[in-house]
Amino acid sequence: MSLKTDVESLPLEAPGMVASGIMGETGASMVRMLESGAGAVVTKSIGSEPRPGHANPCFTEVKGGFVNAMGLPNPGIDAFGAEMGEAVPHGKVVGSVFGASAGEFASLAAKMEDYGACAVELNLSCPHARGYGMEVGTDPKLVKGIVSEVKGSVSVPVWAKLTPNTHILGEIALAVQDGGGDAVVAINTLKAMVISPEFARPYLSNRFGGLSGPAIRAVGVRDVFDLYEAVSIPIVGVGGISDWRDAAQYIMAGARAFQVGSAVAKEGPEVFSKINRGLAEFMLDHGYDSISDMVGVAHDRLRENHRRDRRELRHQDLRVPDGCQGLPGTVHHGMGAGHAGDPHVPV
Ligand SMILES: Cc1cc2nc3c(=O)[nH]c(=O)nc-3n(C[C@H](O)[C@H](O)[C@H](O)COP(=O)(O)O)c2cc1C
Repeated sequence: MSLKTDVESLPLEAPGMVASGIMGETGASMVRMLESGAGAVVTKSIGSEPRPGHANPCFTEVKGGFVNAMGLPNPGIDAFGAEMGEAVPHGKVVGSVFGASAGEFASLAAKMEDYGACAVELNLSCPHARGYGMEVGTDPKLVKGIVSEVKGSVSVPVWAKLTPNTHILGEIALAVQDGGGDAVVAINTLKAMVISPEFARPYLSNRFGGLSGPAIRAVGVRDVFDLYEAVSIPIVGVGGISDWRDAAQYIMAGARAFQVGSAVAKEGPEVFSKINRGLAEFMLDHGYDSISDMVGVAHDRLRENHRRDRRELRHQDLRVPDGCQGLPGTVHHGMGAGHAGDPHVPV
């Protein structure tokens, strides 16, 4: 039994990675994360120039998670080279970048590759930075253009991180795939707001932010489940994972690997060894030899159940006694029931 997995051409010793924005800002914090049992760390999203981010308050705890509007604070790609230099010798570092155009994404990604990133993650999904993130990541044409330009400028795998704040997630993922993207990462935070009753106004300086943590897990699992049906490139699941059961849900929905954000902020890096232990025990108990064995099994199980239901339906049809056809209250689909296209059979 092994926890090793891969995201297309990128092998990982363990399926869990540190999500972007949590402990991925400095070389020292990334090293600490890499020593905790995480298979890789994703850096804070880095842009072309230094950015201070939004004014305080930009982060608050809510029931079931956090709402943040950090505003993509970062030191800029040139200064970030030193942090990468410190972290890369200790393990796999995925370089997350954000830009306003395909050209900007491509040049940032090329620098991340030069710094030793094992893959680049395009932030097409931040909900609270004007002109960036989900503002460019919800237009399939733009997304395809960005991904294909980045693919032309780097040789490491290119992942696209998607927003749940859209009704066309499948189309966007297809645009990533058509642009040559190597994987999709889902999900970033859900656009959200907290109002202070005492002050009778939004709590965050930016008014709205992004919800993360356990409250978004069921949304993320559903999105990964849908993406697995929509695209053939690998999926990395993220959103509300804090224990092995959460991780197993994402894997069974179709993710080959997963990322953890809020739970690292809340519980510390030990969360990875806890998840790894729990997953390993579960896999042993249930006869899964590898993560690959578990990827997408929720889809297989549904298909098996559906086939069984159809078989049972056909069997019942065969047992309908002669002479019952047409009697009031008798349901009989006939010998042809269960064939594709039969309107009586749920597909
Ligand atoms: C404080 C904070 C900062 C974040 N910064 C980034 C970021 O820079 N880039 C990015 O792609 N996602 C960022 N995220 C989103 C996370 O990577 C992740 O997609 C999201 O929080 C859902 O996962 P979780 O529920 O495990 O936290 C941030 C999240 C939080 C809470």
